[in-house]
Parts: sequence; C-alpha cells; structure tokens
Amino acid sequence: MSYNLLKGKRGIVFGALNDQSIAWKVAERACEEGATIILSNTPVAVRMGEVSALAEKLNCEVIPADATSVEDLEVVFQRAIEILGGKVDFVLHSIGMSPNVRKKRTYDDLDYDLLNKTIDISAVSFHKMLQVAKKMGAIADYGSVVALTYVAAQRTLFGYNDMADAKAMLESIARSFGYIYGREHSVRVNTISQSPTLTTAGAGIKGMENLMDFSNRMSPLGNANADECADYCITMFSDLTRKVTMQTLFHDGGFSSMGMSLRAMNQYEKSFDQFRDENGNLIYG
Ligand SMILES: NC(=O)c1ccc[n+]([C@@H]2O[C@H](COP(=O)([O-])OP(=O)(O)OC[C@H]3O[C@@H](n4cnc5c(N)ncnc54)[C@H](O)[C@@H]3O)[C@@H](O)[C@H]2O)c1
Repeated sequence: MSYNLLKGKRGIVFGALNDQSIAWKVAERACEEGATIILSNTPVAVRMGEVSALAEKLNCEVIPADATSVEDLEVVFQRAIEILGGKVDFVLHSIGMSPNVRKKRTYDDLDYDLLNKTIDISAVSFHKMLQVAKKMGAIADYGSVVALTYVAAQRTLFGYNDMADAKAMLESIARSFGYIYGREHSVRVNTISQSPTLTTAGAGIKGMENLMDFSNRMSPLGNANADECADYCITMFSDLTRKVTMQTLFHDGGFSSMGMSLRAMNQYEKSFDQFRDENGNLIYG
C-alpha cells in the first residue's frame, strides 16, 4: 500500500544486486511512495547482475560506481543531480563485503590486506559517500542518509568475522558525520541494524541458516525480512522522522534486547559433548 511518503523526493539507492537484495526492495518501495531514484552498484554487478532489469521496471537510470572510489562517487552524485533535476533528498548505503570471509580466513587468521578491503568497502565507503555529497552540496537540507548494519557491531556472533569490525566503524561514522551534517544542513545520518536476511551477502555468513533460526526464535516478533526493512528505510527517508539522527536503529524483532528466552533455555539442556575434543578440552567456538 502506498502512502505517498516520498512524493516529490529524489534519492540514490546503492547496492541492489538481485531481487533478494535489501536495496532492491527499498528501490521498489521508494518508487511506490512517489520518489524518483538513481540506482548504483559496481561495474561488475551492473554487468553480471539483474540491476538493469530493476532500472527498466522502475524507469530509472543505473550509474555504475565502485563505492570505494571517490571519483566514482563524485560522478554518481553529479549525474544524479542532473538526471533527477535537483539535489537528492535521500541516500541508501546497502553495501557490504568481506574478502576474508570469501576466502574462509578465520578471525584469528586474518589477511590484513583483505581486512583493509573489508573496511574500505563496508565502512569507509560510507564516509566517502557522505564527504563527497557534502563537498558537492549534493544532498538537500533536511535530507536523510541510511546505511544498513548488523548487531555483530555490538555483540560477538560466531562467524561474522571482520565484518563485525566494519559494522562497528560504519555505525561510528553515522554518529560522527551525523553531528557535522546535522549541524550544518539538517541532514540526518542513521544506520538500521537489520535481522539476518537471506540475500547474496547474507549467504556468505558462516552457519547463516542456524543463525537465522536462532534469532527468529529468540526475537519476540521474529526476524524482520527484507520487505519490512524496506518499509523502515522509507519511514527514515520520509519527513516523519526529521529529528532522528546519529542512531543505530534496531530493526530485528527485539533480538538485540533479548538475553534468554524460554525456548532457548529448554534447548540449552541438550548435550555439549560435541564441543569437546577427545581429551575433554573445550573446542574454540
Ligand atoms: N543479509 C543480512 O543478513 C544482513 C543483515 C544486516 C545487515 N545487512 C547489510 O545489508 C546491506 C545489503 O546487503 P544484502 O544483504 O542486501 O546483500 P546483497 O549481496 O544483495 O548486497 C550487497 C551489495 O554490496 C555491493 N557491493 C559490494 N562491493 C561494493 C563496492 N565496492 N562498491 C559498491 N557496491 C558494492 C554488492 O554488489 C551488492 O549489491 C549490507 O551492508 C549488509 O551487510 C545484511
């Protein structure tokens, strides 16, 4: 159902790869709510992925950009202003990737060049986006910028690896830049901490299905799916949330506030022997 929450607004959505992507759902919902948008993803993703099909469906343009490249980001914001006919009102950063996870390097055996890449792609790109936009005056006053994050920034979840460090930094950038951008242009900067969601990036997380099941059972409202995440992003882009900034907003069915549930407590009685080696020592994890 459409409420015209973004009527007349212009936006840029980074990170739609396929119809499972959270950014894909956000792009669809934004247009449904009356926005005109630009899509962006890496040149490879644009060539290999399905983003062009989405652009056709939504009647919008795709501007390829590697979000770690300041030059590429300058082109995106410049072209977006030209194509959309004015400054943008909202931006979604829906970008994450860990080459260490891809190469199955564990957290106590990280490759540091790859760690730099994880952080550049998944966190520093958000700073680059904000800095480029601010220097160019590309975001309209009272605009809204959202990046997607995960609770592993606050709590250790087995297998999330160096992405946890990247997400902690991403959330910190939202606070630090949110202060400056808010003070000078009333632009709000927030992160939305989403439940585990089955997407291409999500599938890379070790034990994703069990993690999803655990958090679904632990959350009083159950896991939030990608469509629900898109709804939340839309409210954050709308004028209904004009005084919300510098926050990590948990969109996780209550998971982040839970400690122990009855079902988890019952499950806890099951055997732990499989986590001991032949000498009875606890195995890492
Ligand atoms: N899926 C989950 O469980 C989950 C949970 C919480 C937060 N998130 C976050 O949501 C965001 C979107 O992920 P998703 O789950 O929709 O998966 P996804 O794989 O559909 O999206 C990730 C996107 O990042 C893009 N990307 C990677 N490197 C890039 C670069 N250098 N420049 C520009 N784009 C680049 C990919 O092309 C892809 O479109 C990520 O930040 C992710 O960490 C996901």
